[in-house]
Amino acid sequence: MTPKTFKIKSFGCQMNVYDGERMAELLGAHGMNAAAEGEDADLVVLNTCHIREKAADKAYSDIGRLRRDDGSKPLIALAGCVAQAEGAEAMRRSQMIDLVVGPQVYHRLPEMVAEAFRGARPVDTDMPAISKFDAMPVRRRANPSSFLTIQEGCDKFCTYCVVPYTRGAEISRPWGDILTEAHALVDAGAREIVLLGQNVNAWTDGNRGLADLIHVLAKIDGLERIRYTTSHPADMTEELIAAHGEVEKLMPYLHLPVQSGSNSILKAMNRSHTAETYLAIVDKMRVARPDIALSGDFIVGFPGETEEDFQATLKIVDVVRYASAYSFKYSPRPGTPAATMEDQIPRDIMDDRLQRLQARINQHQLAFNLSKVGADSSVLIERRGKLRGQMIGRSPWLQSVHVETCAELGEIVDVTLVAAGPNSMTGAERQKVAA
Ligand code: 5AD
Ligand code: SF4
Repeated sequence: MTPKTFKIKSFGCQMNVYDGERMAELLGAHGMNAAAEGEDADLVVLNTCHIREKAADKAYSDIGRLRRDDGSKPLIALAGCVAQAEGAEAMRRSQMIDLVVGPQVYHRLPEMVAEAFRGARPVDTDMPAISKFDAMPVRRRANPSSFLTIQEGCDKFCTYCVVPYTRGAEISRPWGDILTEAHALVDAGAREIVLLGQNVNAWTDGNRGLADLIHVLAKIDGLERIRYTTSHPADMTEELIAAHGEVEKLMPYLHLPVQSGSNSILKAMNRSHTAETYLAIVDKMRVARPDIALSGDFIVGFPGETEEDFQATLKIVDVVRYASAYSFKYSPRPGTPAATMEDQIPRDIMDDRLQRLQARINQHQLAFNLSKVGADSSVLIERRGKLRGQMIGRSPWLQSVHVETCAELGEIVDVTLVAAGPNSMTGAERQKVAA
């Protein structure tokens, strides 16, 4: 019997979530069905993340847990960035893996599943010139807020990061393909599209950039909101900054990782910006869109980071007043330049710095949320809440908002934000004024 049901488990970033959706559609087009919640699947695809050590270890411990009580196991496909990084080595690390498929060859998944089912253990981690997207089925399902990958890979070579090795060089999807997919998503019910890329703002078709793409996407009827993530400061063009003041559908939110507030650490990270050039972009963003909510990523404990360097990071958090931010302990990744740098930071110092940084970020997040109490806001309803009649959606500033409403998934309701917590807001629906 060939595999009939599948389960895809995605870890890591939103690009993996997007890839997971596309793989599900592809397997569906080949006659397989998603296994019901809580049911065993014939095929399990682990769509893994390699960005930090823990993420990769998690993939292997998850594989171990896939053995069933009766000793049998599903067909196991290792996908994502661990698959790309480890290739055939993954097969040696775990005998349970039946196939290894890298992110650039997902279109081959169905045939590889068939080969694995016949007893082969296929491995494909090529990065072919042809686009995997061309071989994927047309999109027929969408979430109210849907992801659309427009760019993959990274040429920046930050010294701590595996992405240039796992996802390869920067590649932009063609303009026409993006528009076709955006239309399909909107036809299927998407009200918001989140454009994705490891360096999304490096998107180009040779002549045009992300700002041009956003201007054109904004003309699609039925599409109400546009976001993009993740951006590199070096690719924040004047046109893109200006678009935030010009395109109403472009939401007032920007995820712009800085990583550190110390110029010597930024240099050792090969970030190509300083604290000052980063802050200059933030200032310009605030001129273009005064209510912009800013978000960022931080790494604490990069090799050589002193307490003074760390203080510079706390300072930049205070200057930017982030509406939200992600922070991580430095994790040495094999093959990256930083992994062999001198002066690796002891774990207890990293723990302490992470705690202090997160406390500071949380203060600013709460302050941002409190600053919105009393404000009117639209909310795109994305899921049901735990309480009867309660729905959960997002404000333009990407805050999670709880609302009591009869509105259904995918509707946009007008609320007044009446209460703020550290991680979410409460909205009261405003009465619709009769036309
Ligand atoms: N260690 C810790 N954090 C990392 N990131 C990337 N590589 C590493 C690493 N080796 C973080 C960066 C990046 C985010 C996606 O993950 O902050 O922006
Ligand atoms: Fe993880 Fe980075 Fe790969 Fe995304 S691109 S899955 S964050 S390693």
